[in-house]
Amino acid sequence: RAGPPSALLAAVLRASHPRAKGQPRGMAGEWLGIAAAGGPEKAGCASPPLSRRQQELCKQKPELVPAIREGARLGLQECRSQFRHERWDCRPNIPVLCFVGTKETAFISAVTSAGLVHSVTRSCSAGNVTECSCDTNLRHGGSASEGWHWGGCSDDIHYGMSFSRKFLDMPIKNVTGRSGLVAMNLHNNEAGRQVLDCRCHGVSGSCAVKTCWKTMSSFEKVGRFLKDKYENSIQISDRLKKKLRRKEKSQRKIPIGKEDLLYVNKSPNYCVEDQKLGIPGTQGRECNRTSEGSDGCNLLCCGRGYNTHVVRHVERCECKFVWCCYVRCRRCETMTDVHTCK
Ligand SMILES: *[C@@H]1O[C@H](CO)[C@@H](O)[C@H](O)[C@H]1NC(C)=O
Ligand SMILES: *[C@@H]1O[C@H](CO)[C@@H](O)[C@H](O)[C@H]1NC(C)=O
Ligand SMILES: *[C@@H]1O[C@H](CO)[C@@H](O)[C@H](O)[C@H]1NC(C)=O
Repeated sequence: RAGPPSALLAAVLRASHPRAKGQPRGMAGEWLGIAAAGGPEKAGCASPPLSRRQQELCKQKPELVPAIREGARLGLQECRSQFRHERWDCRPNIPVLCFVGTKETAFISAVTSAGLVHSVTRSCSAGNVTECSCDTNLRHGGSASEGWHWGGCSDDIHYGMSFSRKFLDMPIKNVTGRSGLVAMNLHNNEAGRQVLDCRCHGVSGSCAVKTCWKTMSSFEKVGRFLKDKYENSIQISDRLKKKLRRKEKSQRKIPIGKEDLLYVNKSPNYCVEDQKLGIPGTQGRECNRTSEGSDGCNLLCCGRGYNTHVVRHVERCECKFVWCCYVRCRRCETMTDVHTCK
């Protein structure tokens, strides 16, 4: 099982850096810093990235510390994977801190909140938590081919959902700052959890459970779903009037869905390095000369052009089986062009 790249961890560690002006505490995913803490035994509840409320929860449930770390790690790793071809490649968390309220923050909130549900549920199913276990109601339903496992019981997602809410959703009363941002954050946390929620798509009673199980089986699917929501995310008004409203006045009648991702502030273009804002820029990023997509040199390099260098690969080739019993190969050299943004 590969961990997230260490650069990411280092960036996450810096999560303790000063908050952007006017940004309420606990809104910038500070808790994600726990992914970078030492071994499981070291990641105690007093970890600095946790808010006081989170530390209290953690002390009540020390057995969940590994799951909390795993949830953060899983979410960040999925973010990295979904954004690997974008100008903002989810490396690092720092834009999150500086550009609170952007689409990128929305994605991180959703994917890490889902990650937490996922890891806590796994921990329940493994029998690591006293209050929860796997869901034995379903012992006689389903078959292996439908993806049932854990010896005939399915993951009980409810405990994980409830823990993720308690852990991440700060009570709205205790937040100072712009209320649009807070509501946005809570909505996006929940949007991530909704993806994992057990839903029946209107077929039969048992299908709800099946959907739930299937979403638990692959976190990559969750990531892809949320990436799509990110592409179609909705800008909301910073000023709340009882409930969330779209910024675009002509569209206010269109309801905002539970799974939609919301943002308040427009994103920077992430093209050029800005150390003060923690944006690495795209200089030096590898791009694809023929792609029209976001990984194409044109878009990724923001029109600055690219450098090309030739990289030589040596590999075994034209292998032949020789009686008996070995394989004889030749060494082949191939040259590939690698393009990196200027
Ligand atoms: C359950 O706990 C054991 C022992 O602490 C640990 O090795 C394992 O990774 C945990 N499993 C899950 C899914 O959390
Ligand atoms: C708000 O914070 C205070 C102190 O941190 C805490 O005692 C109180 O329970 C919190 N309010 C809510 C609604 O959680
Ligand atoms: C570059 O993009 C083209 C077109 O999208 C694709 O077919 C090709 O596999 C990509 N090359 C690499 C190295 O990713």
